[in-house]
Amino acid sequence: MYVVLGASGNTGHIVAKTLLSRGQQVRVVGRNATHLQPLAAEGAEVFIADVTDAAALTKAFQHAASAYVMIPPNTASNDALNYENRVGDAIATAVRNAGVKNIVSLSSIGADKSTGTGPVVGLYHLEQKLNQIDSANVLHLRAGYFMENSLGQAGAIRMMGSTIGPLRPDLKLPMIAARDIGAAAADALLQLAFRGKQTQELHGQRDLDYTEATAIIGKAIGKSNLGYVHAPDEQIRPAMVQMGMSDNFVGLLLEMSAALNSGYMRALEPRSSRNTTPTPFETFVAESFVPAYQQQAAA
Ligand SMILES: NC(=O)c1ccc[n+]([C@@H]2O[C@H](COP(=O)([O-])OP(=O)(O)OC[C@H]3O[C@@H](n4cnc5c(N)ncnc54)[C@H](OP(=O)(O)O)[C@@H]3O)[C@@H](O)[C@H]2O)c1
Repeated sequence: MYVVLGASGNTGHIVAKTLLSRGQQVRVVGRNATHLQPLAAEGAEVFIADVTDAAALTKAFQHAASAYVMIPPNTASNDALNYENRVGDAIATAVRNAGVKNIVSLSSIGADKSTGTGPVVGLYHLEQKLNQIDSANVLHLRAGYFMENSLGQAGAIRMMGSTIGPLRPDLKLPMIAARDIGAAAADALLQLAFRGKQTQELHGQRDLDYTEATAIIGKAIGKSNLGYVHAPDEQIRPAMVQMGMSDNFVGLLLEMSAALNSGYMRALEPRSSRNTTPTPFETFVAESFVPAYQQQAAA
């Protein structure tokens, strides 16, 4: 039996759906039964638990041979790294107590660094905690920059007529669709070819910078002159806080952006068929960004 954390989320729902479609027994974990209902309809067992609750997660992992684990973002937290550490502790305790043998964890490029990478520091600690569990085989999937991060640009385009962000306009990023991460995680869980403690990066279909990504978005929404503004932190900070993020979390995102801009945080593996995934940014934009942009325009 498989357990999937964050099962209503971007990556987790793909993991769960893929395992279910292959006839596997799957227990899906989240805080909200309604969000998990579509997976229950496909045969999943629903388990309600908070990822900070080690006792609840231990019960969630009972009788599971394998699990997908991740730290759900908590962008409103005033101490986001402390939250990430509490989740990492709860997950590691539960994996150990329940004796789960095979773990695929969602990590990030930059998780090789213990400091200076914003929210990714929490993923460094998650990796370390899981690596200390002798009885488990663990594969850390170090994903690149989610294409979903660009969805916030729909509002910026409407308000400013451009995309905007803290990243250098010419910074090539391994941009990946969350669904490709879910598919890779499900594949790893089905094959169980990892042993001991391993990491694997996931780079998406190709590297793109925000200038190129903006041009693709512009073409898809009929704004062929759409440009990207590389804004200073002082301009980004209040805009992100206004979107509902805590000042603490925005500070971490800006630290991560600086780490990406300087090259301190970067992919370590050369691109290969192993870490390249299928979905191009054009497909993500057509299927996810354009509907989100249109919905916002209608609202
Ligand atoms: N963005 C990037 O570029 C990037 C890059 C590399 C790695 N990552 C990592 O990817 C992860 C995010 O993955 P994702 O996009 O798949 O996440 P997501 O879509 O935000 O999904 C998280 C799910 O977890 C559930 N959840 C939230 N808080 C919970 C809690 N306290 N207890 C139990 N369940 C909870 C939520 O469902 P309910 O509301 O139904 O409970 C939500 O659907 C983060 O760890 C992030 O650091 C991100």
